[in-house]
Amino acid sequence: MKNMKRILAVMLSLTMVFTMAGCGGSDSASTDSAETATTDTADDAAATDDAAATDDAAADDTAADDTAADDTAADDTAADDTAADDAAADSGSDSTAADDVKNTGDVISVGFAQVGAESDWRMANTQSMQDTFTEENGYKFEMVDAQQKTENQITAIRDFITKGVDYIVLAPNTETGWETVFGEAKDAGIPVIIVDRMVDISDDSLYAAWVGSDFKTEGMNAAKWLADKLDEVGRGDEDINIVTLQGTMGSSAQLGRTEGFGEVAKEHSNWTILDQQSGDFTEEKGQEVMESFLKSYDDIDVVVSENDNMSFGAVTAIEAAGKTVGVDGDIWLISFDATNQGFQYMIDGKINCDVECNPLHGPRVAKIILQMEAGETPEKIAYVDEEVFDASVAEEVLPSRAY
Ligand code: AHR
Repeated sequence: MKNMKRILAVMLSLTMVFTMAGCGGSDSASTDSAETATTDTADDAAATDDAAATDDAAADDTAADDTAADDTAADDTAADDTAADDAAADSGSDSTAADDVKNTGDVISVGFAQVGAESDWRMANTQSMQDTFTEENGYKFEMVDAQQKTENQITAIRDFITKGVDYIVLAPNTETGWETVFGEAKDAGIPVIIVDRMVDISDDSLYAAWVGSDFKTEGMNAAKWLADKLDEVGRGDEDINIVTLQGTMGSSAQLGRTEGFGEVAKEHSNWTILDQQSGDFTEEKGQEVMESFLKSYDDIDVVVSENDNMSFGAVTAIEAAGKTVGVDGDIWLISFDATNQGFQYMIDGKINCDVECNPLHGPRVAKIILQMEAGETPEKIAYVDEEVFDASVAEEVLPSRAY
């Protein structure tokens, strides 16, 4: 794919050469305009791919540049990165998975538009990317923290296009709003790889690949856990009042978890979802929304909190209101992410169940990039395997967790 960018840059240069030859000095006005056009186009080409420009200067930017050595390294790496590596990353138990997706060829520049730093999950996700896309592994990596604003991510992508990175990686804040900027990346010959959440886009050719979580299944699994647990303790036929702390509205993680939980909840006529409001995936807002739920409803049985950090805020709010929460509590708490801190809350009995959402995407994105470098077509859509953890297993499982 990097080669495709080089080809685009070479084609632009050739166009410029022929344009200049055609305008060839017959009058100063046309020469000036040709020069102006050349300068602009050259700037554009340089902006499109400064890495390619560097290679061009070294006069080795030809098909031969796509050396056997490069291909072999990429091929080997892609081939070596087997299901076992995926399993290692999926289990969250092998922090060395990044070592298996080393790029041993040219420096590859990657621009990453990250959602923000709103949660423990997000920090683990950022760490995974930073640990993978190191200079030592052959990458030039730049990350922009978009502070949970889709418009900041769009600006970051435009900036990456101007800088001419080799690959753009996006963890989309929300699902919509990407067509135009993805089109701009495509026109510049820069592949976009999507990670974590998904985009809602009519033209799938605007991105190269996506890897992330099946958020709807996560939501369904949370509801199935609740149904099983209520049966287990003999409360299966009781009226159950539920409130939901939703994540960032319009994000795949919120949409999928809300939809998945709701779909299964509909099968239980004795369950009532009293209210659903967004706590934007942060502890502070989770606490605020939980406080307002507690003021509005005095009969909450279950809180479904769409991430761990909102759960931590919910625990603070519930305890401040004089109620107990968790395994032996007045209010049950179902969480998502299964971070180390989420596990600690389960061990302390404050969270009843934590549905895993795996953030260790660095090696997975590297695998996609190396496949593309090797001329292979990566899987377009790849879901990671995820589990559901009951509080009763938390103490035993926590030591094996990587995030
Ligand atoms: O998209 C993944 C979600 O985003 C995680 O559940 C949450 O913690 C993060 O902010």
